[in-house]
Amino acid sequence: MVTYNIACIPGDGIGPEVIAEGRKVLDAVSEAEGFEVNWVDYNFGAERYLREGTLVSEEELKELSNFKAIYFGAVGDPRVRPGILERGIILKLRWYFDQYVNLRPVRLLNGVSSALRSKTPAHINFVCVRENTEDMYSGLGSSGVRSAKASMVMSRSKYQVKFDVDASMIGGDESFAYELGVITRLGAERVIKYAFNYAQNNGLRRVASVDKANVMTNIYSIWRDVFESTAKMYPQIQTEELYVDAAAMLFVREPERFQLVVLPNLFGDILTDLGAAIQGGMGLAPSANINPEGTSMFEPIHGSAPPLAGKKVANPIAAILAGGMMLDHLGRREAYNSVARAVERVLVDGRVRTPDLGGSSTTSEVGDAVVKELLSVV
Ligand code: IPM
Ligand code: MN
Repeated sequence: MVTYNIACIPGDGIGPEVIAEGRKVLDAVSEAEGFEVNWVDYNFGAERYLREGTLVSEEELKELSNFKAIYFGAVGDPRVRPGILERGIILKLRWYFDQYVNLRPVRLLNGVSSALRSKTPAHINFVCVRENTEDMYSGLGSSGVRSAKASMVMSRSKYQVKFDVDASMIGGDESFAYELGVITRLGAERVIKYAFNYAQNNGLRRVASVDKANVMTNIYSIWRDVFESTAKMYPQIQTEELYVDAAAMLFVREPERFQLVVLPNLFGDILTDLGAAIQGGMGLAPSANINPEGTSMFEPIHGSAPPLAGKKVANPIAAILAGGMMLDHLGRREAYNSVARAVERVLVDGRVRTPDLGGSSTTSEVGDAVVKELLSVV
């Protein structure tokens, strides 16, 4: 029997609860379809950080590189200053494994109502391909109190920056902060090419690009340039280039215009939460952080949602669908289809749903219902 070794990082807040349901579903589908998942657990997250002060060690990163897939819940905890766990764990993993594609389907499933009252599943069905390693997430930035000329050197493996501030421009000895966006030609090329290939392989005819090239002319000119030259290699695909503000409006007003949207990192972060809203809520939106040649990571796009933790109310569907995407990535398209179909049947049936969808079921009741559908469908 084929066995897939999968690293599992449930993390904080509702992470462990939704990941438990995802595992339940994946175990059921693997048994039904004759393969095996071997889970290897990692306890990264707030608890360990508070106890031991560690986030993810070099050794652990090396160990994780033996896996093709990581199943990830969420990190974030009110006891830890914002940014420590996010940068120290999730962004660390995305960078270390160079997971340059963040694939986020925005699909309104049957049985779910959108935040957009007049839209149906026929209107909301597209894929966002978010660049996942550069842009405003470069990690280059600092803050401080400075007098006269300030200079700082920040480094992440690829870049070194020296930032000079003329104190007279910022009113003398005052606090200031900066954060730099970086886009490299290579970084734009690989993700934009991935997007066009994805469109081609999935029979999509339209690809839209999002940027803010009218204001951030340096980084987004490279982005546009790469988008336009890549588009020429796919003459059968229609393209459009949108500024992010207009794109936000169109996500709401005319989502049916989109089939695939490729976005720089920060705009991709923001617009995919909007995407989640129009597909029925954060509880339904999965994502895949992909390095096509390396270790990829699959997670719900919602965070750790501390107020919901332990209450058994978290919707596990985003995590379950992320698990489905993981199986697809591992070459198990049939298993993915079974999971997606089972989820949709539970939603259409409507009896078992968590409070975010207007129901009163618990997290594990939803997982159980998906398993039950799965076993009746496979
Ligand atoms: C997401 C999250 C992360 C991001 C955070 C937790 C670092 O919001 O996956 O969208 O900003 O990418
Ligand atoms: Mn986000």
